[in-house]
Amino acid sequence: MKLETKRLILRKHKMSDWEDLVEGIGNYDVAKMITKVPYPYTKKDAEYYIKKRLKIWKKKVIDDYVFVMELKSEKKVIGAIGLHKVNFFHGVGTTSSWVNKKYWRKGYATEAKIAINDFAFNELKLRRIESGSFSNNIASNALQLKMGFKFEGTKRKNVRCMTTGKIHDENIYGLMKEEWKKARSKLIKK
Ligand SMILES: CC(C)(COP(=O)(O)OP(=O)(O)OC[C@H]1O[C@@H](n2cnc3c(N)ncnc32)[C@H](O)[C@@H]1OP(=O)(O)O)[C@@H](O)C(=O)NCCC(=O)NCCS
Repeated sequence: MKLETKRLILRKHKMSDWEDLVEGIGNYDVAKMITKVPYPYTKKDAEYYIKKRLKIWKKKVIDDYVFVMELKSEKKVIGAIGLHKVNFFHGVGTTSSWVNKKYWRKGYATEAKIAINDFAFNELKLRRIESGSFSNNIASNALQLKMGFKFEGTKRKNVRCMTTGKIHDENIYGLMKEEWKKARSKLIKK
């Protein structure tokens, strides 16, 4: 299964992606903003993770989606976008993303998030998407608001970062299906 945007293909991992993962998520400035990334990040870590993701795609009912962002122009994996903890009874899921530092601030996370939000609301028929960011993560907090998510509060000292060992306050954002319609049309116009 894959999703497509103007500049990206959002697809399942391939074993050959390991090098791009090591370069991208192995960067300290990326890893320090994510909860569960070993640091330093090695080929072995990437291969273990890719195998795990490929197993998940084989499940009958998938409740944890992660797509890599393959940049069409370079055929390179420059990030990943996830929709985790999908609960069809409640109609909810939680998103996550990272982008290789060399490709920051070019709108790739925005582009991938538009596709994953459409997928969550239109294909999976979810009602609400949630997103959590460390309170000191300026980029991610701004990204959620740009995507139309509403700030819903802070879980104090809720998460620990594996890379730094630091405990973080976590800002929680929520986006409802009807809010996404409005936010989407604004983002598309830009
Ligand atoms: C957060 C992250 C995924 C954003 O990726 P990106 O491709 O650079 O994001 P975009 O270019 O689509 O930017 C979208 C918006 O995010 C915000 N943003 C991104 N980088 C920012 C920065 N350095 N400072 C402030 N705002 C920033 C802006 O609102 C931006 O919109 P604008 O460019 O129109 O102002 C990327 O910075 C990253 O991988 N960070 C490390 C890992 C991480 O924090 N993941 C999220 C964990 S919850």
